[in-house]
Amino acid sequence: MLAAYYETPPLAFVRSYGCQQNVNDGEKIRGVLQDVGFGICDTLEDADLILFNTCAVREHAEQRVFGNIGALKKLKEQNPRLIIGVCGCMAQQPHIVEKLRQSYPYVDLVFGVDGIDRLPAMLAERLRRGKRYLETPEQRNAVVEEMPIRRDSGFRAWLPIMYGCDNFCTYCIVPYVRGRERSREPDAILAEFRDLITKGYKEITLLGQNVNSYGKGLGNPIDFADLLNLLCAVPGDYQIRFMTSHPKDASRKLIDTIAAQPHMCKHIHLPVQSGSNRLLQQMNRHYTVEQYLDLVDYARNKIPGVTFSSDIIVGFPGETEEDFEATLELVRKVGYMQLFTFIYSKRNGTPAAKMPDPTTHAEKAARMERLLRTQDEIAFAAIASMAGQNVRVLVEAAGRTPGTVNGRLDNNLVVEFPAPEMLIGQWARVNLTGSRAALLTGELVDE
Ligand code: SAH
Ligand code: SF4
Ligand code: F3S
Repeated sequence: MLAAYYETPPLAFVRSYGCQQNVNDGEKIRGVLQDVGFGICDTLEDADLILFNTCAVREHAEQRVFGNIGALKKLKEQNPRLIIGVCGCMAQQPHIVEKLRQSYPYVDLVFGVDGIDRLPAMLAERLRRGKRYLETPEQRNAVVEEMPIRRDSGFRAWLPIMYGCDNFCTYCIVPYVRGRERSREPDAILAEFRDLITKGYKEITLLGQNVNSYGKGLGNPIDFADLLNLLCAVPGDYQIRFMTSHPKDASRKLIDTIAAQPHMCKHIHLPVQSGSNRLLQQMNRHYTVEQYLDLVDYARNKIPGVTFSSDIIVGFPGETEEDFEATLELVRKVGYMQLFTFIYSKRNGTPAAKMPDPTTHAEKAARMERLLRTQDEIAFAAIASMAGQNVRVLVEAAGRTPGTVNGRLDNNLVVEFPAPEMLIGQWARVNLTGSRAALLTGELVDE
């Protein structure tokens, strides 16, 4: 037990940045730490161990982490036995590890995305020798099962079905930091899923950078739709979400499965990135706007009430006004309920970093404004038109208005309605009465 190195039981503070995969890794890190005797705290000042589980997807994410690490210097001066660690996607890049080594001497522990199961050994090494432990990043491309986990929620759970990514979209760092695509065995996923349902979890979100290529490389042939059918056969009152779907691999079989399985939420996050075929090609996305729209049409016909959300990159190198207008056009055609928009961020080592990028940041920011305005007009009107519907929601959290709670609809929209907080984690029936921007408002209905 590592706790033997401490006079009083040690406390760990773990903060995860970035995507749900990383959040789920953070839950495993807490589980591993708890297993070796750490308590978990949520203030930096109380911690004996601070771990930042980082994201490298955009420069801004990295700058934020460096800012937050810088702020820890004072804490370390006040408490010399404090251990400061950096892990996750940033720590998977050699130049970042070098920067931490050179310029942040008070960072004690550095390891990449595949190090969680070895964390107790690394900590022991650091505590025993009293020296910094900084790993040179390498890719293990491992699938580690049976790791302890301390989940953040008692009713919603993340369930990774695959790790890594082989798509190499030209702007994206993820394949370099998360390694090669590999799927978990269906039996392991099913066992974890069953366990969650038995424990009363009501919403399971299946995770992967491209869930549609699930199953490649496994011994027995299985694809993502087969996996969904396998999970949906488990009895219980639950719903399943998943992310992310790459449009190039989203099959009609998948759409048919979502349509046929009542446990599946009627919402598809289908990142399009751009509405210009020229840019989609430059991005190495392997689909055209026409193919994407065909898929959306197919889903709309098969799944009544289905909604879509998407990621869009504004200002990819060489994006012209014409390319950008094609994106606006696509956004109008699809009518996304939610859009996650990013200004292109140059990631060294990716192919796009070498592409000429003459557009100024101010121009890109102006395009972003136009995109957000277009999106708001479309989505707010669609959301407002839902008033009058009676829906079932999973109550997630306290609402912003005192005395209210927030519930998430099957289609991923959120409704705020007056109800006691003890409903959090429960299903509720709600009459939709109106909306404020993207937030629906409603009234609880007694069942
Ligand atoms: N695997 C998922 C998401 C990965 S990262 C997918 O393929 O959709 C989440 C989002 O971050 C991406 O969809 C993309 O829109 C955005 N993103 C990735 N790299 C980026 C970069 N260099 N600059 C700006 N946005 C980026
Ligand atoms: Fe990045 Fe593309 Fe892989 Fe998504 S599919 S993680 S955008 S390389
Ligand atoms: Fe970021 Fe790593 Fe996820 S780079 S988006 S935390 S896979």
